[in-house]
Amino acid sequence: MDGHLSAEEIEKFHKDGYLLIEDFLTHAECDVLKDSCHRVIQDADFSQHPKVTFDTTDNKQATDDYFITSGDKVRFFFEESVFNADGQLNCPKEKSLNKIGHALHDLVPEFKKVTFSDKMKNLAKSLELKKPAVVQSMYIFKQPNIGGTVVPHKDSSFLYTEPMKLYGVWIALEDACADNGCLWFVPGSHHEGPTLRLVRKEKDEGVTTVLEGQPPGNKPEEYIITPVKKGGLVLIHGDVVHKSEQNHSDRSRNIYTFHLFDSGISKWSPLNWLQPTDPFTLLY
Ligand code: FE2
Repeated sequence: MDGHLSAEEIEKFHKDGYLLIEDFLTHAECDVLKDSCHRVIQDADFSQHPKVTFDTTDNKQATDDYFITSGDKVRFFFEESVFNADGQLNCPKEKSLNKIGHALHDLVPEFKKVTFSDKMKNLAKSLELKKPAVVQSMYIFKQPNIGGTVVPHKDSSFLYTEPMKLYGVWIALEDACADNGCLWFVPGSHHEGPTLRLVRKEKDEGVTTVLEGQPPGNKPEEYIITPVKKGGLVLIHGDVVHKSEQNHSDRSRNIYTFHLFDSGISKWSPLNWLQPTDPFTLLY
C-alpha cells in the first residue's frame, strides 16, 4: 500500500463521505505508535491538569483554557469517571485517559513520521488536495469497559472551513470491532453542512466555547457499522455523520487520528476553538 487510491476508491469516498483502506500501516508500524504513546504517558507530568490542580472540579475557565490552548501541545484528557472527589486519579494513569491532543503530529517524532509520510502525501494527492495543512492530531484510547460513547457528530462542527474541505484520517492501532466501540457512519450525510457549531467566545476572563444549533438527527437504522482491523485507515469527510458506542469489552480500542484541510482553496474559520499559534504545517 503506497497511499494512492484507485478510481473506484475515490468515487466511493465522494459517494459515501468515508472510505476504509485496509492495511495502510503494518502491525509493526502500529506498535511503534502505541509504544511511543506509552512513553509519552510515562514521562508525563499530570500536575498541571485542571482536575488535578484544582480542588473544585468545576473550575470551568481552567478546563476551557487547558483545552483551548492545547492546539500546539501534548495534553491529556481523562475519562470522566476516573477522579475521586479530591481530584486524584482512582486508577493507573495509563488506564485513565480518554485521549491525548492536539499536536502529537508536530511534537512526537514517531507520530510526525507517520503523519508526514510519503504514503499520506499520496493519499492527499489522490484527493487532489492543493495545499493540505495538518491542523490537529489525537491519540484516542477507548479504554476497556469505561471508554465512553462519542455521540453522533460531523467533525466540521468543531473544525469548520469555508468551503468545507476538512478531512479526518483515522488509523486503527488495534482491531476496532462492534464490542469495543468501532465507528458507525451515515453514508451520504456529507452532502449537507453541519447543523451544530462549536464556536469560540471571548469573555472578560478569557476565551470559552459554546455549542450553537442542533446535533444531527439521523435514525439508528441509517448508521453503517465499520469494523477496522489493526493498521486500517478510515478517511473521513468533514461533513459525514459518525459516532461510536461505549467500549463494553475488556479490550482497548486505541487509534491515532489527525485532521487536515485544503488551505489552497479553503479558509480556516476564525470561530473555531483551535486557532494556530504558528501557521499550520503543510503536508506538502
Ligand atoms: Fe469525529
